[in-house]
Amino acid sequence: MKIDYLSLKRITRQHADELCKAVNQVVDSGWYLQGKATHDFETAYAQYIGTRHCIGCGNGLDALILIFRAYKELGVLHEGDEVIVPANTYIASILALTENRLTPILIEPNAELQIDSTQIEQAITPKTRAILLVHLYGICAMNDAIRAICRRHKLLLVEDNAQGHGLKWNGLRTGSIGNAAAHSFYPGKNMGAFGDAGCVTTNDEMLANAVQSLGNYGSNHKYVFPYQGLNSRIDEVQAAVIMVKLKYLDADNQRRKTIALRYLEGIKNERITLIRPTNSVFHIFPILCEQRDNLQAFLHQKGIETMVHYPIPPHRQACFKAWNTLKLPITERIAQTELSLPCNQAMTDEEVETVIQAINQWTETY
Ligand SMILES: Cc1ncc(COP(=O)(O)O)c(C=O)c1O
Repeated sequence: MKIDYLSLKRITRQHADELCKAVNQVVDSGWYLQGKATHDFETAYAQYIGTRHCIGCGNGLDALILIFRAYKELGVLHEGDEVIVPANTYIASILALTENRLTPILIEPNAELQIDSTQIEQAITPKTRAILLVHLYGICAMNDAIRAICRRHKLLLVEDNAQGHGLKWNGLRTGSIGNAAAHSFYPGKNMGAFGDAGCVTTNDEMLANAVQSLGNYGSNHKYVFPYQGLNSRIDEVQAAVIMVKLKYLDADNQRRKTIALRYLEGIKNERITLIRPTNSVFHIFPILCEQRDNLQAFLHQKGIETMVHYPIPPHRQACFKAWNTLKLPITERIAQTELSLPCNQAMTDEEVETVIQAINQWTETY
């Protein structure tokens, strides 16, 4: 049996007729940008997330870049301002800050692999203006301490919800708990498009207008340009595709949760550390293992595909040379030991049991 890490073919097949119909409608409409599909999606997703505004854009990185750029244009943030961000994140979170000449302040993770809120306050300086919270692996990174720190220090709270579609905190959807949030609809996400797509959600009308204009060359009315913007818009095909996916998101997340709970119950190998998140949509199911590469090779030989999220942390990348000597031992340890098991709504129970059995069979002498 071959078990893919994630088969997009299978995921698409689950709603193929509906998806093809939605795409065909766009094709037949002759209208491919800034049309009805975009408007319908933005309205539906704002309602789902629970914000007044949703602005579609090209991808999740652009969504983050647009938020911080908009805050700069509005005079809320300035070049050189410091933004607290988890050290254990996908590089896009950091790129959005450096692209805007903001200074990322990297914070080590807690036992759920999310930003350690007990370490935030000591990193705050007079230049700190915001926290960029990342719900990495689909695990909720928000807590009461972060809320209190934001209030106490008057910090903006921006969410990177690229991996957290459908997550809830205190009855609110992530994407609505801070000042603004970025979402990615990269095909492999819990709610994936047929290419790149993303959006910004916020209750802040001024920010929403600035993001909208900045993603449209900086224009708020045709041929009128208050900003030097970029071109980052969602296209009608992607909007129509994710509109279909949105209907199934909660059910898909429930299936992911069932699989994750089965893993948590069934995996009993003392060489493996399981992460037991209190609140997750299980975009990724991470385990930690000192002999990670050996385990990965063993699973591969059994036909089970796994991935590593992520093998090199942002501060160790060549593109951030100045940080290469920073000591972030917890983040570095995660990069050396993390392994992501297949966990998605298209998996069968039999596949899940096969993964559990293989992991329980593994000994490091493989
Ligand atoms: C945490 C995080 N932030 C941002 C992004 C960027 O999203 P995109 O790939 O749509 O640019 C991703 C995903 O790729 C991500 O995982």
